[in-house]
Amino acid sequence: MNAIVRDATVPFYKPVGNECALFEAASAKGLPLLLKGPTGCGKTRFVEHMAARMGRKLYTVACHDDLSAADLIGRYLLKGGATEWVDGPLTRAVREGAICYLDEVVEARKDVTVVLHPLTDNRRTLMIDRTGEELVAPPGFMLVASYNPGYQNILKRLKPSTRQRFLSIGFTFPDPVTETAVVARESGLSEARVAPLVRLAGHVRALSGMDLEEGVSTRLLVYAASLMAGGMSVEQALEAAVIEPLTDEPDVAQALRDLIATVYG
Ligand SMILES: Nc1ncnc2c1ncn2[C@@H]1O[C@H](COP(=O)(O)OP(=O)(O)OP(=O)(O)O)[C@@H](O)[C@H]1O
Ligand SMILES: [Mg+2]
Repeated sequence: MNAIVRDATVPFYKPVGNECALFEAASAKGLPLLLKGPTGCGKTRFVEHMAARMGRKLYTVACHDDLSAADLIGRYLLKGGATEWVDGPLTRAVREGAICYLDEVVEARKDVTVVLHPLTDNRRTLMIDRTGEELVAPPGFMLVASYNPGYQNILKRLKPSTRQRFLSIGFTFPDPVTETAVVARESGLSEARVAPLVRLAGHVRALSGMDLEEGVSTRLLVYAASLMAGGMSVEQALEAAVIEPLTDEPDVAQALRDLIATVYG
């Protein structure tokens, strides 16, 4: 099963707004939380940070279009001629009062919604049809989900009845001062050399929605800065970490090179 279990040391996360306080308040009240935002803006890092800082076990499930309710809840497996029930990551998180993070939840199959509804309203109940069990989530259990509204087509939007069961936080890219600090810390490149990268990102993001599906992520800036910290030239680093990941169109790539020349010229 594609769940990653982590309870290690606290990963670095620099807050952008009041998201840490909101997470703690949601957790204290047992309310589910939805994180919305573009790729690579820090959603996963935020959840990993909060779980570790609160000393809570985290089950992360990367949702995909084949992910079914059984993948989350569990199934009977054949073991040595006998069938045995094996809990899925969601059931384990409920039993243990842990945090369950469903990454890109809209990708999952429709039957997942049916499972999430009783778990995310005041019932806080996980129905396990196959065993007849009805698990009421203990106070520690928290459901966190994320999705990227940018590239979701209309068929894949969350239904109002699902999204209105979650508290929501809209993530955007960090402000330039925060982003500079984040990229410098993550890559080891000096803030002075990260600053133009962040300026460039501002220009590139202004193009998103027009020529680009999505602006350059903080993640890609960390990649570019890491290459530069390792001694690669700015030009080569930006080609591999910004231009090529963002577009396949030669015209758009050239427009990005022109932008780079303006910022670094
Ligand atoms: N506020 C922040 N504090 C620390 N690191 C950050 C922050 N924002 C972004 N990052 C950096 O950006 C990288 C990408 O963030 P992350 O993987 O959390 O993105 P995401 O929003 O989950 O993206 P996706 O939707 O593609 O899964 C992180 O590995 C980290 O290096
Ligand atoms: Mg993520």
